[in-house]
Amino acid sequence: MFETTYDDCWLRYDRVDDALRPGYRRRLTHAYVSEGAPELGAVRAELRRGLEGLLGREPHLWQHPPRSVDSFLAIGHPEEMRPISETIDVDEAWNLADGGFLIRTVEWEGQECTVLTASSDRGLVYGTFHLLRLVATGEPIDDLDVREEPANENRIVNHWDNPFRRSVERGYAGQSIFDWERLPDVRERYFDYARLLASVGIDGVVPNNVNTGIPSRPTENDAVADRAGWQLLARENLEKLEALASVFRRYGIRIYLSVNYAAPIRLGGLETADPLDPGVRQWWKDKVDEIYEIVPDFGGFLVKADSEGQPGPYDYDRSHAEGANVLGEAFEGHDGRVWWRAFVYSEHDDRAVQAYEAFSHIDGEFHDNVTVQIKNGPIDFQPREPISTLFGAMPETSLGCELQLTGEYTGQGVHTASHVPMWKEILEFDTHGDGEERTVKDVLADVEGQGIAGVGVVGEDESWTGNHLLQSNLYGFGRLCWDPDLSSEEITREWARQTFGGDEQVVETVTDILLDSWHACIDYHTGGLGLMHMMYNGEEALENHYDPAPWEWPEYHGATAEGIGVDRTSSGSGYAAQYRDPLTELYDDPESCPEELLLFFHHLPWEYELTDGTTVIQRLYDNLHAGAATVDDLRERWLDLEGSVDERRHRHVTARFDEHALQAKRWRDTLCTYFYEKSGVPDERGRVPTE
Ligand code: GCU
Repeated sequence: MFETTYDDCWLRYDRVDDALRPGYRRRLTHAYVSEGAPELGAVRAELRRGLEGLLGREPHLWQHPPRSVDSFLAIGHPEEMRPISETIDVDEAWNLADGGFLIRTVEWEGQECTVLTASSDRGLVYGTFHLLRLVATGEPIDDLDVREEPANENRIVNHWDNPFRRSVERGYAGQSIFDWERLPDVRERYFDYARLLASVGIDGVVPNNVNTGIPSRPTENDAVADRAGWQLLARENLEKLEALASVFRRYGIRIYLSVNYAAPIRLGGLETADPLDPGVRQWWKDKVDEIYEIVPDFGGFLVKADSEGQPGPYDYDRSHAEGANVLGEAFEGHDGRVWWRAFVYSEHDDRAVQAYEAFSHIDGEFHDNVTVQIKNGPIDFQPREPISTLFGAMPETSLGCELQLTGEYTGQGVHTASHVPMWKEILEFDTHGDGEERTVKDVLADVEGQGIAGVGVVGEDESWTGNHLLQSNLYGFGRLCWDPDLSSEEITREWARQTFGGDEQVVETVTDILLDSWHACIDYHTGGLGLMHMMYNGEEALENHYDPAPWEWPEYHGATAEGIGVDRTSSGSGYAAQYRDPLTELYDDPESCPEELLLFFHHLPWEYELTDGTTVIQRLYDNLHAGAATVDDLRERWLDLEGSVDERRHRHVTARFDEHALQAKRWRDTLCTYFYEKSGVPDERGRVPTE
């Protein structure tokens, strides 16, 4: 079958420095990997591939611990490692959270041994990638004492890919990689995608769009003309799903499905999808049983209900809990769960308040098998949003956080915009739930069934992500789900080092570009005071959500002749009142409200003075200019790497930066002009045309 070529991303395994190579070779040339689960096959294959690249020599893989060598690597479950690893506490290893692993350097009857053990097969896969990462980033491995466990139980990528049609909603890197027409034939690319995901600890993939009603495009092939995501629940497609699952299973990753709430009608021929109808309950139960017969390690369902035209329990006057629970019950007796999205809005003037209104009062009513999946902010993946109030409001419910890997509002597949610092800010945010310090990362980490979902970014492009530098968002997502305490800098450096090699100058520059990119993105897209959603929509245009159009959705920024911003205080739309104390107080008062969110919470006069005496309008002009200027600077920094980064990737990213720099100016000029026209207040520095 014809396959496109594609990049290795951070799994390049470039040869390590001459000086370091002998030490690594001594420890890793001989390896014993125990037999058994499919994951161990993946471990062996990755060791061969990784060590050959990094050390220039394939390792010798033994069927048993080798006695004739000074030093070796041993990988297997605690019991299998017991004879070698007296210094490893077997119980400690068995008690690690699923996915966790230990890597320790031990002495064994005069031999040196690097032992990697874990409580599950997927832990051995993660541990193998961890060890390879240490080598790829030039870290010492002579005296290892590594104990790793994932902070979040579930770490899932949600693809918004439309099956059969192979388009990707909000995807900017070409067609979907999932080829449902050809499944159960599997593509090499699935294996490589699974490797990328497993290397950063991701353990779940939803391969189809939450909008399950989108039919295939009209096509010359009638057989696929009317196929849509909801049909993946049909038996013939479940067999295709199992083929996909069998690839991902090797890497410890489970496959899920987005399902349509009206499936009992559309697929089952019932007259209703009312969750309280016994026939509907039975239909879901039978369907879930059927899935597990075909895909024994199926992960569960993702559901977008009563949102943007999707069917849901409101169609039958039932609550979201009643709606979700019929699905949760269907998973009883199976190891799977339902991820029920809280992204609902419609009948209200201020969409920000709606998810809380729909969900907070049904806290505690959800089945144990249901996780409520909440977007990080109340609007929709804007460059910066306040935290969703639901994270502090549902202590009795399993919660998941939904982040966006793809850059729907941050420059799509073109602009270099790292989301990692944004995600750090989100996860570190203190919700004050329960009246105590409770950051979002604490809320997510401590109850069963919780976790983080990221809306997918990859497509069929050679770069996977539309811009090589945006691979760092997929990488960073996995690393943060695994360990939210890692800093943005650590993650970005690690990525740059593995992706662009050991030249310190390159690593430093690429890391700095990415770390500075998010603030620039906020500044030129929003003016940096909490405004948002000022983009062009227009479903027909490729530029959808890419170009500036502040006149299109005036209710989101609230600009009038007198002032700008939206009153979301307790006496306004009430969004601020949905937080726990002392956050309500903090946001309610413009004097204490953090400047970066000021206009999200307040409608203020254009010449309202900020703490340093600058007016709101002047700060907007300044930030918009600063953002665009930073992009020019990021571009220059990248151009300086010519000759130090391979020509192919340098040229590719340069072309993206050329467009990025133009587009940042376009946003700057459009917003500055619009704000000037509304306010009539000229830029003190004379940069905004007054004609
Ligand atoms: C946004 C996005 C849609 C998506 C929706 C969702 O509105 O633009 O493409 O379907 O979010 O998260 O469901």
